[in-house]
Amino acid sequence: MRVIKVENYDEMSRVAANIISAQVVLKPTSVLGLATGSTPIGAYAQLVQWYKEGYLDFSQVITLNLDEYSGLAEGHVQSYRYFMDTQLFNHVNIEKANTHVPNSMAEDIAKECERYDALFEEADGIDLQLLGLGNNGHIGFNEPDDAFAGGTHQVKLHEMTIKANSILFSEEEEVPQYAITVGMKNIMKAKRVLLIVGSENKKEILEKALYGPITPLVPASILQLHPHLDVITV
Ligand code: F6R
Repeated sequence: MRVIKVENYDEMSRVAANIISAQVVLKPTSVLGLATGSTPIGAYAQLVQWYKEGYLDFSQVITLNLDEYSGLAEGHVQSYRYFMDTQLFNHVNIEKANTHVPNSMAEDIAKECERYDALFEEADGIDLQLLGLGNNGHIGFNEPDDAFAGGTHQVKLHEMTIKANSILFSEEEEVPQYAITVGMKNIMKAKRVLLIVGSENKKEILEKALYGPITPLVPASILQLHPHLDVITV
């Protein structure tokens, strides 16, 4: 594990974007595992800027996002598909068909989870997995639980997550209660993992995740077992 300590959110974003762009430059056919939320916004903006300046080519890149809220119609402004399109995909030369987000509107959710896991197999795994950290230690939407969940699955979001995510909704009641998330297996199978933490108030949970016991009660603690984990933190 390598922990990179930075001064502030902007530096975190730049260092993260440097690592992601190095991955894409060194392997133009990279498979990137991507996260949403407030943490990666700055890194995505930096990637867009470097793309516009001609330094990056996403034409052969494949992306697999971690999660999607359940019950938001396609194109909903709070959906993670919309987030990815507007923060990154619409501004670079990535093929939309190569960008994947779980389809939470699928009629058969179990089938959709199987389909999503199969995409990881087809892509031969993730080259670089970007992760944010939930206030309760979740990664993706793998919430604290009695056991680590392996495959893609539907999850009931914890109160803490709903509260944290409500800042992007006009009312807390509007935050979906359920989501589909990639499980620990495909996160941990990524060749490299990049965990980014951009706010001081996650210090305590980050400490638990990196140095505490490996437990599903702190889902991110499983990352201690990853052979190539980089953490960028303020
Ligand atoms: C989002 C995701 C979540 C977030 C986490 C932190 O795709 O997988 O695990 O990374 O909830 O969210 P922010 O960055 O909003 O603090």
